Amino acid sequence: MIERIKVVIQTVENANPVCAFESPLLTGYSGKRLIAVLQGLTSLFRENQQLCYLEIGVFQGLTLLSVAGANPEVACFGIDNFQTYDPEKQNMRIFMERRQKLGLDNAHLINLDYEDAFENLYAHTKGRKIGLLFIDGPHDYRSQLMGLMLAMPYLSENAVIVVDDSNYLHVRQANTDFLMTHPEYKLIFQSYTPCHPVNMTAEQAERARQDWWNGVNIIVRDKDNVLPSMYPPTRRNRILFENDHFTHSSRIGELSPRALTVLNLLFTGRWMRAVKNLYMAYKEYKQLCLKNRFDDANTFLEEVPQSLIKC
Ligand SMILES: C[S@@+](CC[C@H](N)C(=O)[O-])C[C@H]1O[C@@H](n2cnc3c(N)ncnc32)[C@H](O)[C@@H]1O
Repeated sequence: MIERIKVVIQTVENANPVCAFESPLLTGYSGKRLIAVLQGLTSLFRENQQLCYLEIGVFQGLTLLSVAGANPEVACFGIDNFQTYDPEKQNMRIFMERRQKLGLDNAHLINLDYEDAFENLYAHTKGRKIGLLFIDGPHDYRSQLMGLMLAMPYLSENAVIVVDDSNYLHVRQANTDFLMTHPEYKLIFQSYTPCHPVNMTAEQAERARQDWWNGVNIIVRDKDNVLPSMYPPTRRNRILFENDHFTHSSRIGELSPRALTVLNLLFTGRWMRAVKNLYMAYKEYKQLCLKNRFDDANTFLEEVPQSLIKC
């Protein structure tokens, strides 16, 4: 099976990407080469009704519906709780409409947080194991790692895992940490671009859209240990990950993204935007429930049963 997986990946990598199913209805955040590899890898298990395609992160359905359209015999599931990139709360409706217009009855939405979905995944997949897992949901370090680990009991013996947005250091670090601690899984393919498409010129971004978008890692279950160990590149210096400790224990840790935005704008002389973001930080601050919090070294033990705490 690993040889067949390699052939699909190399065929997609070495030629102009060709998608087995496309529709002008399908727009979203993904690259054409990435979609072609998802479709091709899913086709490897299309005869096995016991297996399914599963993705974390549906958005408006570009990848889920593209894979379902190319593999009508395969049950395809997508987990999304529509918590991000959905300010108008329209994404679920858009996904449902697209699915209906394209007549893709084999595409199924699991409208849950991914951790809740993995609590009893078989109830959703009707007992099917995962042939291909595509991870494209929340990209923070913990979610990346948990997406891999929570899926493990449901992965079939020849499972393939495709991780989108692997350009990010913290995504590469989560994949490396998973591979180091689960040697039965091997990295079989990786590809990156010089930066995230949002930081590219229009021409570069268009090339990324035809390619792997924002970097990809492909991991396989190598139970016979035939592949050499290989890891995504990471840094020895782990300061960004260690900084999590200060975010988690700060009085206002929830504001850390906004606080970093304000500081960056101030230090680069963009005063008006800095002031606007400072005001937004203040509004977010007023929403927080800060009762009983210390300036730092917060433990949040007040949320723990008091019987566990000694005075
Ligand atoms: C980048 S988008 C996915 C793009 C999509 N694969 C496509 O084809 O366009 C990421 C999605 O992950 C979802 N998401 C974020 N956190 C989540 C969570 N905790 N559980 C489930 N879905 C989540 C967001 O709602 C968003 O729709």
